[in-house]
Amino acid sequence: MKMVLIGAPAAGKGTQAARLVKHYGIAHISTGDMLREEVAKGTELGNEAKSIMAVGGLVSDELIIAIVKERIKKDDCKKGFILDGFPRTVVQAEKLKEMVELDKVVYINAPDDVMLQRLTARQTCPKCGATYNKLFLPSKTEDICDVCGEKLTQRKDDTAEAGQKRLDTFHEQSEPLVGFYTKEGILFEVDGTQDIDEITKEIIKGLDA
Ligand code: AP5
Ligand code: MG
Repeated sequence: MKMVLIGAPAAGKGTQAARLVKHYGIAHISTGDMLREEVAKGTELGNEAKSIMAVGGLVSDELIIAIVKERIKKDDCKKGFILDGFPRTVVQAEKLKEMVELDKVVYINAPDDVMLQRLTARQTCPKCGATYNKLFLPSKTEDICDVCGEKLTQRKDDTAEAGQKRLDTFHEQSEPLVGFYTKEGILFEVDGTQDIDEITKEIIKGLDA
């Protein structure tokens, strides 16, 4: 299974990917998570990406394509993978097409106001990567990760201002991917406003069809 999850910021890509990798036993490749790791380590790449990510822009196609090209060569991708947050431009999609043959592309669709509400309430665990939501998926103990007990943090780009900019960037640069993959005949859309479990069920049904 080689698949892509497309969706605006906070559409639920990471949440669904975490469930799907367990179900299918495949690798999860989140370009956003990979970039945040580089930022945390203070590498050259991280320093280059940091300011762009903070204001909700996109890092260069060239850079991100090179990262993904290396990542999908790793052993854990042999059984398949879920790309979460890549491609994000038609240029990236065209390059990906040269690298692999995709089975399916899932578009998680939800209105902007829903996504803005979700992203400003998101909390993440800096240690194990678990994701929570103060409104929709709270941790059992406030601000503490259920899985590993670490104190939860908020992403720097999860403010109303950066969130709106990320949504605008999605509509301008990433939404054309829906048309691109519809033409390729491999896209299906799910309603991202449903419950998390309902969305997972619908995606699995679509992937196994
Ligand atoms: P990235 O980390 O990919 O951010 P994003 O696309 O903005 O998406 P998010 O991670 O914010 O949302 P998500 O869809 O994963 O939602 P989640 O499941 O967490 O990228 C960050 C930045 O890196 C980009 O802005 C860009 O600068 C750069 N970048 C990355 N890839 C790039 C590329 N290919 N090219 C160029 N630049 C790139 O859910 C969100 C919240 O909602 C959580 O709190 C969750 O608990 C909750 N939630 C999820 N589903 C539901 C539901 N159904 N109901 C209620 N709550 C829900
Ligand atoms: Mg994510």
